[in-house]
Amino acid sequence: MPCAKVREICAAFAVESIEIVSQAFAAELERALRGQNSSLSILPSFLTSPSGEEQGEYIAIDFGGTNVRVMRVSLLGDGRYTTGRKVARPLADLAQGYDLTTPDTTGEELFDFIAALVKRITDAENDYALGLTFSYPMQQKAIDKAVLIEWTKEIKTSATVGRDIKSLLGQALRKQGLHRIEPVAIINDTVAALMAGAYSHSEVCMGSICGTGHNTCYLESSLHTLHGHPMIINTEAGNFSSVRVNSYDRHLDQNSLDPGKQRLEKMTSGKYIGELFRLILLDLMDQSLLPKAFQESSIWHPLSVDARILSSLRGHGLTERRYLQQWLNERGLSVYGASEQNLLAVIAEAILGRASGLIAASFLAILRRNKGVHSDLAVAIDGSIFEKVTGFSADIELFLNQGIKGSVVRLIHTADGSNIGAAVAAAQTTAMG
Ligand code: GLC
Repeated sequence: MPCAKVREICAAFAVESIEIVSQAFAAELERALRGQNSSLSILPSFLTSPSGEEQGEYIAIDFGGTNVRVMRVSLLGDGRYTTGRKVARPLADLAQGYDLTTPDTTGEELFDFIAALVKRITDAENDYALGLTFSYPMQQKAIDKAVLIEWTKEIKTSATVGRDIKSLLGQALRKQGLHRIEPVAIINDTVAALMAGAYSHSEVCMGSICGTGHNTCYLESSLHTLHGHPMIINTEAGNFSSVRVNSYDRHLDQNSLDPGKQRLEKMTSGKYIGELFRLILLDLMDQSLLPKAFQESSIWHPLSVDARILSSLRGHGLTERRYLQQWLNERGLSVYGASEQNLLAVIAEAILGRASGLIAASFLAILRRNKGVHSDLAVAIDGSIFEKVTGFSADIELFLNQGIKGSVVRLIHTADGSNIGAAVAAAQTTAMG
């Protein structure tokens, strides 16, 4: 039986009403659309949903999660594609002696790193159009004109905010001798998920990322591309702020690199939910409700816990139980037996349940805007939390189908969505001439 303190924690993490959060999200979105003050944004992509007939071979870069991924993508039309040579590198690899996420690295150095990866999978003799998925808030004036508004997800690379992303990438490609590669599309990863999903499934009207970060985009029928089609809009949903915060959320926020910002993201995404779990664990140790870790344990280090442990605590398979035991051992917590592990599972459930509930509430708000415009509704989603956390996608789907009457909502996982979507965006841009 969980103790009073644990019940208190569960109550602090409970979503009081999905409906109320959803209405608050809808109201914030409406304010943003009217140009009024809002925690949501209306960032134009200048792209519309693809037809599925786009074709050609493209270079696609995915920058914005834990790894940079560069890939050759061949679009075959009829919603089909193949992927070719690819390379991926972490943004930070301390064993290799680099970390591109701190102010010690400049925007130039960051893009030199990315361009060097592009060189590894291309030949300098052929012409290629390139699509770049750059997963941060960007102000765009055209598909290939994007300026970084600010960093999120604890990145602070210097000399990049306010800079033109295409020029940074273009210069870096030229330094590598890649004069025949032309960046033609710069898109957010949510836009990439939508493009990739809609390429094969025409009912996709939203794209979302539930990974290191969290964000959502959708097709807004009142805003149009240059050719008069509904435009895909990045809402920067991770910044949604009409959410009830508790003491752990406040602690996390105050110690983050962007206090007061990205409230929803800090409750739902892979960068942060492990940290919430760690903060609760330390609190329970402090109150002698759990045995204390040794001083040398990594559990004392901020942001040292990733979301995988939360998923393992939910699962009941052998792999999960092994991972949990190893995780505890590595942190000097091997004395935690069945009752402590049950308590950790209750905490993990509280954090994950809130995360999926809040995400579902935000999706509901957008889907209801789209209902009536589209009869079938589907959301294309990518990201490690969606893909790997036990039960996460099923929970969201259940909330959505309870909240939307009269149509079935499908969640479509777009594996490699950031790369495939970047290629589709490049194809749409080239076709428009
Ligand atoms: C952060 C970024 C956003 C991105 C999301 C998912 O919220 O600000 O642009 O889409 O992470 O990667």
